[in-house]
Amino acid sequence: MTYGPEVRERLERDAKEIIGRYPRPRSALLPLLHLVQSEEGHITEAGIEFCAEQLGITPAQVTGVATFYTQYKHAPVGDYHVGVCINTLCAVMGGDQIWDELSEHTGVGHDEATPDGKVSLERIECNAACDFAPVMMVNWEFFDNMTPEKAKRLVDDLRSGKQVLPSRGPKSLATWKEASRVLAGFPDGRAGEGVQAGPESLVGLEIAKQRGWEAPRADVERERPEEPVKPEDMGSPPQEPGKPVGGEAKPGSQEGRNK
Ligand code: FES
Repeated sequence: MTYGPEVRERLERDAKEIIGRYPRPRSALLPLLHLVQSEEGHITEAGIEFCAEQLGITPAQVTGVATFYTQYKHAPVGDYHVGVCINTLCAVMGGDQIWDELSEHTGVGHDEATPDGKVSLERIECNAACDFAPVMMVNWEFFDNMTPEKAKRLVDDLRSGKQVLPSRGPKSLATWKEASRVLAGFPDGRAGEGVQAGPESLVGLEIAKQRGWEAPRADVERERPEEPVKPEDMGSPPQEPGKPVGGEAKPGSQEGRNK
């Protein structure tokens, strides 16, 4: 299978722009894979051959990379790819329960799509949003503080075409193919929309401000940035070692044992 002339011409134009951003063509492989994924929704043989040709590498090298990263899919996913975080924190906060109920509700498992092609599910390992656990993602946008009921309603709404908004970030949800194009390096203008960091994520910053803590000096400001930082150049620790941040340790917590 290869692309038709029109698609190929368009992809070649985009690929040229992407490759031009890197000192060596092969460095553009990751965004190029997102580009071909934005065309067909997953990585096909045609996509692999296209990337190899554009970058002057072998299809085996492209396949090796495409099969390593889980963001590249090798079978069709839904218009809305729904990730449920089942990593430790989300799992204990209800992520495992959400996954079980959602999978049963939709009748599909990990990296499988519903028969209408609207939704697919994926078990995800930490979305880097643990302060909002349990967290889900739709096409990489956040849905915070989820419950099994909210998760099932979300998927039902996506399948029925109802408008769904993420908890933070853009004011509209991109489809899987649109999101893949953004990851290829073609912004859709939604990146700066909406709340970026919620209050839960800013607690540490607030504590630092109250206590007058500052980040260590950046390497660029040092006389010899290439040399390792010496202990005497480091600022004093913000507090006594072993003393819990933000007051006394909670009863029964492990903090008190960190002496
Ligand atoms: S464990 Fe779920 S976002 Fe980190």
